[in-house]
Amino acid sequence: MIQTSLQSLSGKRIVLGIGGGIAAYKCADLSRRLIERGAQIRVVMTHAAKKFITPLTMQAVSGHPVLKSLLDLGAETAMDHIEIAKWADFVLLAPATADLIARIAAGMGNDLLTTIYLATDAPVAFAPGMNQQMYRAIATQENIATLSRRGHPIWGPASGKQACGDIGIGRMLEPLQLVALIENYFIDTDLSGLSLLITAGPTREAIDPVRYLSNHSSGKMGYAIAEAASKRGARVTLVSGPVNLPTPANVNRINVQSAEEMHVVVQQHAGVHQIFVACAAVADFKPATMANQKMKKKDGHDEITLSLTKNPDILASVAAMTDNRPFTVGFAAETQDVEQYARDKLAKKNLNLICANDVSQQEQGCDSDQNTLHLYWPNGDKILPLASKVNIGHQLVGEIVLLFHGDK
Ligand code: C5P
Repeated sequence: MIQTSLQSLSGKRIVLGIGGGIAAYKCADLSRRLIERGAQIRVVMTHAAKKFITPLTMQAVSGHPVLKSLLDLGAETAMDHIEIAKWADFVLLAPATADLIARIAAGMGNDLLTTIYLATDAPVAFAPGMNQQMYRAIATQENIATLSRRGHPIWGPASGKQACGDIGIGRMLEPLQLVALIENYFIDTDLSGLSLLITAGPTREAIDPVRYLSNHSSGKMGYAIAEAASKRGARVTLVSGPVNLPTPANVNRINVQSAEEMHVVVQQHAGVHQIFVACAAVADFKPATMANQKMKKKDGHDEITLSLTKNPDILASVAAMTDNRPFTVGFAAETQDVEQYARDKLAKKNLNLICANDVSQQEQGCDSDQNTLHLYWPNGDKILPLASKVNIGHQLVGEIVLLFHGDK
C-alpha cells in the first residue's frame, strides 16, 4: 500500500456510493486517495454507475468486491445491506446524480445504495455531479434543499466545462477536494473539550551573554503533536524552546529559552490542562553561574572548566503533582537498551505513558523529519513504525486519547 505523509483517515470505514454519471470515472482515483490516507473502503454502485466505470476497476482499487445489487445472494451473504450500513463510519455518494438525489430525497429503497442510506446512522455526504441544466432544474434544487434540511453535507458541485460540452455548474468536485472535506469532517471537533500542554524544542542554558549550552532538537515532533491535537479540536498550549518553526493554527505558543523558564511556565499551566506531553529536549544541566560579561580568552590558559548544576526535571515535577495532576506523557531518547531505560523511566517518573525513540538510528530522532516510537504504558506497549513526524504526531495523539479515556 502507498503511504502518504499523513494517515489522516486511519481506520475510518467509508462507503463510497457511486451514481451513474460520467464523473464516476474519478471514483477510482478518489478510492485510491482515501486508502492512501488509511481509510477502509467499500464500494457500492448503482446499476447505471456500472456503465461508466467497471466494478472490476473499483474492486481492484478498493481491494474488495463491489456491492452492486440488493438481491445478489452471493454478495449479500458476504456483507448484506444492513451490515454494511452499520459498518460505515461515513458514506459519500459521488457522483450524486439527479436521479440518485431524487430517490434518496423521496425516501425510496429500491436498490442497494438507497437501502444503505435508509439503514445507516453514519453521516452521509453528497457530491453532486450532473449536467448543469439538470442541476439547476427546480426538482433537483428542491431535492437538494431537502437533503440539506436533513443535515447532510452537500459538497459542490463546481462550475466549468462539462463532459456533454455545456459550461456551467454541475461538475463533481475533484477527488482531492473531496478527500480534504472528509478529512475535515473527521478532524473537526472530536477532541473539543480536551486540553493539552506540550513542551517542545531544545532549551538554551546561558554560559555568558552570548554563549549557551543546547542540543540538536528541532522541535518538529512536539509541534506535530500540537498540530495534530489542535486540528482535532483540542485546546493546545505549546511551551516552546527556541526553534525555527511556524506556530500551528489555533495553538497558544509560549516561548521560553532555558529549562528554568520552561519549568515556571509549565507549572503555571499544568493544573489547568488534562494532558501533559513533555516532548522538549530539556538540558539536564546548566552552568552553575552565568557570567555577566562575555568570557574572554586568557593567554596561557588552554583549558577552562565550566561548572554545571542540575536543572529541574519538569516532567517528573508534573507527574508528582497531587492536585489536578494531568495525564502525563514523557519521551525517552535512548541510544541503547531502549526498552529497559524507557520502562525504568515510566516507573521512576510515575508516568502514564512513555514514548521511546532510538536516536542511534540515523533516519529518526532529534533533527530528522521522520520518527519511529515505541510506546510503553504500565500494562502494554505499541510500536509506531517509521513515518513522518506529522504522521507519528497524529497516531500518537490517537493513542494518548485512548489511554486517557481508559479505552486500552
Ligand atoms: O530523564 P530523561 O531526560 O531522559 O527524560 C526525558 C523526558 O523528560 C522527556 O520527556 C523530557 O521532555 C523530560 N525532561 C524534563 N525536564 C528535564 C529533563 C527531561 O521535562 N529537566
